[in-house]
Amino acid sequence: MSEQNSNSHKTLRDEALYILKTNSRDHRYTVPSDRLYPYQWNWDSGFIALGYAAYDIDRALTELDSLMDGQWQNGMVPHIVFHEFEEHYAPGPLDWQVPSHLTAKPGVCTSGITQPPIIGTVLARIYASCPDKEAYHLRFATLYTHVKAYHEWFMTKRTSAPAHDLVKSLHPWESGMDNLPCWDKLVDDVPRGDISQFRRKDLKGDNAAQRPHDSDYHAYMSLVYHYRAIGYDSIELLPQAHFKVYDLVLNSLLLRSAHDMAQLAQDIKPEDQAYWQAQIHTLTQGMQKLWSEEHQAFLNQNAFDGQFLMPLSCASFLPLFARAANETQAAALAKLYTKWREIYPYSVPTTDPESPKFEIERYWRGPIWVNTNWMISEGFAAYGYQDIADTIKADTRALIEEHGFYEYFTPEGAKGLGANHFSWSAALALYWLF
Ligand code: GLC
Repeated sequence: MSEQNSNSHKTLRDEALYILKTNSRDHRYTVPSDRLYPYQWNWDSGFIALGYAAYDIDRALTELDSLMDGQWQNGMVPHIVFHEFEEHYAPGPLDWQVPSHLTAKPGVCTSGITQPPIIGTVLARIYASCPDKEAYHLRFATLYTHVKAYHEWFMTKRTSAPAHDLVKSLHPWESGMDNLPCWDKLVDDVPRGDISQFRRKDLKGDNAAQRPHDSDYHAYMSLVYHYRAIGYDSIELLPQAHFKVYDLVLNSLLLRSAHDMAQLAQDIKPEDQAYWQAQIHTLTQGMQKLWSEEHQAFLNQNAFDGQFLMPLSCASFLPLFARAANETQAAALAKLYTKWREIYPYSVPTTDPESPKFEIERYWRGPIWVNTNWMISEGFAAYGYQDIADTIKADTRALIEEHGFYEYFTPEGAKGLGANHFSWSAALALYWLF
C-alpha cells in the first residue's frame, strides 16, 4: 500500500471509530444513525459488534448483551429494542404495543417481529478473535444460550408443515431488505387496515425520494396492527399472517449462524454438536428448494403459493455465505455477478440492474449496501472466486473513500445516500476494509 493510501486509510479508520463512539448510547448499545434510526436494531447491532471487536472485545459483547435485553420469553430476538423513548421515529413502542409478558426482562419495550439472525455468526467471530477466552467464558456461554434459544424459536415458531426445513418471514422488514421489488405483489395484496393513528417520520431532509411509497407504508403498518391484534406470540400468527415468504436472507443467515454456532459449541457446549449438525442438514436441504433452474439463481419464494418472487436481488448471492450452494450453482452465481458488474462499475446492486423495477436511488431497489457486500464477498471467496471477492471489496472501499460512511451508494458510483455516519458502514469498514 502506498504511503498516501495508508494515511487516508488511517483517517478513515479514525472517522469510523468516531462514528461508533458518537452513535453509542450509555456505553451499551449503538443506534444505526443518530437522526434516521434512533433505536437499537437487531442485525445492525450484529455488524456493529464486529466493528467493536476489531479494537474492544468488551464493548462488542456488551452490544450483543444489550440486544438480548429485548429477547422474548419464547426466544425471539426482536428487530428493534426501544431502550429510550424517541419522538423522532415511527413506528415506536406505542404502535407495536408488545404485551409486557412476552419479553424476558420486565419493562423492556420492543417491536413484534424479528430480523436476519447474524448474531450467532458475530458471536463466533468475536470468540475466535478473543485473546483471553477464559476471562470472557461466562459471557460467551451466556450469549451462546441466548442465540441457541433464538434458533430454536425460528425452527419451531417459523416453520410449519410440510416445510420444516425453511423458515418464513412475515413482514418485509424481517428480511432487513424492506423495500425489494420482489415483495411488491405480496405487499399490494396485504389487506389495508385503519392506520389513521400512524404518522410517518422517515421522510426527513432530502432523502424522501429514496424512501418507500406511502401505499407501501400503509401495507407495512397494516401488517403491524394485524399482528398486534393477533397478539404476536399466538398459534394464530402463522396461519393468519398476510405476508409469508421463504426468505433468502433469513434462511441464509440462519444456516450460516448454525455452522458458526456448531464451531463455537466445540468449546462452549460440545454436547450440542448433534443439535447443530441436524439443523445444518435440514436448512441446507431446504435452501435447495429456493434454487430456480429457469433463472439459474436462488430466489425468494411466496409461501402462500410456492411461486418464485422476481426480480433477482442481491439476496440471491447470500446462499454462498451460508455454504448452501453446490459448485454448479456457485458458478452460475459468479456468471450472474459478472453480468451485473459489466452494467455498472460498482457492485453489488440490490436489484437486478436489467429489471424494469431497478431504481438507482431508491433504497433496496438499486443502491449498494456495505453489509450485503461483505457477506457476498465472503461467500464468493469461500467458493474459490477470490477475484470477485476482491472486486466487491475494492468497490466498497472506493465508494467509502469517495463519499464517506453512507447507508447506501448508487452503483454508478456518483452518490452516497440515506443516512451519513451510518454505524454498520463504519463498523464493517473497521472489520473488513481498512
Ligand atoms: C432500514 C433497513 C434495515 C436496517 C434499519 C436500521 O430499515 O432496511 O435493514 O436494519 O434501516 O438501520
